[in-house]
Amino acid sequence: MKLERILQNQGFGSRRQCRQLVELGKVRIDGHIIDEPDADIPTTGLVFEVEGETWTYREKTYVALHKPAGFECSHEPKHHRSVYSLLPHPLVTRNVQSVGRLDVDTTGLLLFSDDGAFIHTLSSPKKHVPKVYRARLAEAGNEALLHSLLSGVSLLDEPRPVQALTARLLDEYTLEMSLDLGKYHVVKRMIAAAGNHVEHLHRHGFGGLALGEAPLASLAEGEWLYLEAADLQQLHPSA
Ligand code: URA
Repeated sequence: MKLERILQNQGFGSRRQCRQLVELGKVRIDGHIIDEPDADIPTTGLVFEVEGETWTYREKTYVALHKPAGFECSHEPKHHRSVYSLLPHPLVTRNVQSVGRLDVDTTGLLLFSDDGAFIHTLSSPKKHVPKVYRARLAEAGNEALLHSLLSGVSLLDEPRPVQALTARLLDEYTLEMSLDLGKYHVVKRMIAAAGNHVEHLHRHGFGGLALGEAPLASLAEGEWLYLEAADLQQLHPSA
């Protein structure tokens, strides 16, 4: 593929900007400056440098972010910074989108990709990909709370009761529950409908991935990493 096209589809700007980067000697492959934008470069296993930073060619890109509180899942945030400001600029330019959204005050695992089919698969309620949430409760949790969540609670605007797949107390005030649907404020609304209140919400896991466990074992708040093919398999077999 022509070098200028590689740079363009990897998110380094318009065709003109990418030609310019190359012509100004800012792109290296195997340590050598390549200053010919039309150079034909094989993309398989390609590692390249742009302005001293190393990148791996990725046809599609998959990213996990440990979202901190105080960031909106929007490209045009209204009151806070955007989660996209936590990702490197070329990823944003190549138009990665979050897989669903987390509330501004929710922390935890948020996935991004520029692969529409992947986003669709993971978001589709038909695929039943569980998401695991940990909620700090205002009132101590009890069996009645777990029972309500597991048997289903009625939410305004939802035609049928909404059920947790699993629910357990990690300690008196910490509830862990999993769900295979994503609806606006769903966990907070379910817990409120069950008679308690969420003081803080954290998404611990998504499919087969969980914060604190490989490959996300050391992903600190505000940090992101690329998900590789094996990680996607772990996330969900059809991801
Ligand atoms: N449910 C919520 O209430 N908030 C989130 O951010 C995610 C799920």
